[in-house]
Amino acid sequence: MVKLMVIEKYKERTPSSKKLWERAVGLFCGGINHNIRTFGLDNCDAYPPYIARGDGSHIWDVDNNEYIDWWMTHYSQILGHNNSAVRSALAAQIERGIHFGGLNEHMVSLAEKLREGVSFLKKMRFCSTGAEATMYATRLARLFTKKKLVAKTLGGWHGGNDALAYHLQSPYTDEPYFNGVSFNFNERASFDKVMKEHGSDLAAVIIEPVLGAGGAVPPDNDFLPYLREQTESRDILLIFDEIITGFRFSYGSAGENEFGVIPDLMTLGKIVGGGMHLGVYGGREDIMGLATPGAEGGRWVGGGTFSSHPLAMTAGCAALDQLKGKKDEYPGLNKRCTDFRNEVNRIFDESQYKAISTGHGSLVYIHSLYNRMDGPPLTGTDIGKELDHDALDKFQSLLMQEGVYGYHGLGAMSFSHTKEDVEKTLDAIRAVVTN
Ligand SMILES: Cc1ncc(COP(=O)(O)O)c(C=O)c1O
Repeated sequence: MVKLMVIEKYKERTPSSKKLWERAVGLFCGGINHNIRTFGLDNCDAYPPYIARGDGSHIWDVDNNEYIDWWMTHYSQILGHNNSAVRSALAAQIERGIHFGGLNEHMVSLAEKLREGVSFLKKMRFCSTGAEATMYATRLARLFTKKKLVAKTLGGWHGGNDALAYHLQSPYTDEPYFNGVSFNFNERASFDKVMKEHGSDLAAVIIEPVLGAGGAVPPDNDFLPYLREQTESRDILLIFDEIITGFRFSYGSAGENEFGVIPDLMTLGKIVGGGMHLGVYGGREDIMGLATPGAEGGRWVGGGTFSSHPLAMTAGCAALDQLKGKKDEYPGLNKRCTDFRNEVNRIFDESQYKAISTGHGSLVYIHSLYNRMDGPPLTGTDIGKELDHDALDKFQSLLMQEGVYGYHGLGAMSFSHTKEDVEKTLDAIRAVVTN
């Protein structure tokens, strides 16, 4: 009933989005081009808002409704929307021409900046999306080790490529055994089982230092060092997918800076593209060398009409220059968001609302649950098993009605989120919880 009233109110406010949605469903499968962008309203006979513009931590839809944005372009916009330095860099490049399909100065500058931020990024390649980056990193691992199998975490999202898009949604039974195996994030016994059964066939283990879409769970104390030790001793490559975590908690790699673990290969994207499309894969020189044309034992790795696109390169450079200047501000951002998550959980506890906020540093998710959880979940499947998708749909719809926009509950805090944004979001959550 509540749901219907919300949707009716929402529909009244969003007539232009409705019209666009009616056109879109006839054109795109499910009306969308990324499965997650249904905004959880898909089972309520409604439609997502169409976003027209953004500035700082706020966005406006085509009907001029304003939202505090926590999604921040899939966590890419750590500096806020419409960042003036990124905008100027893009405008200057557009003046010179958009893309020539050749080499450009900015790709060299961006790679130098990335290498300065990440000590183990000895050699790298740029592509256009994170999904390509993880696919190529996997390909290189297979070439280097001459083994085929890869292991990832249950629920771990590494993009929509064929190599890694399996075991995505708990209970994971709907996915055929494909070309990879999975283990539970933070669970040694589960990892050990995969090692025992498949260790000798594994080319690589790919993992996010902090589990992202699978639940926003930080690693347990020595889980990452254990993975490092176990993979190294078995000649399995360790790939850190840092497409969310890279330059998110500090200026550089979360694996290296936060958890003191160095992988063989890493992937980057999102933040380092400054809001443009970018994927990066790189790491050890001997492994990356197999991508060099004509390398012995190598094979075709990379490509892409739009790889090292000048707009992505210039936006990335402009973003990294600013983030470098904010190195000392990362701890403050991480703390502000940690305090915020704690406050959200306090609201849930006080009202005995069946939800939990998880995350690390500036990442903040909210999961609606079938049963209340006493403490923070340790693994992604802990959340997966309890995740109440319908309740989350309702929660997100109500939040949007209160002028707060996010996916996975919320998303991430940016440097542009103000104290007022945080207070208003907490008020919105209070309103939803007591609804
Ligand atoms: C950890 C991780 N890896 C890879 C990807 C895929 O990146 P893209 O969407 O740019 O293909 C994502 C995207 O959400 C991600 O979160």
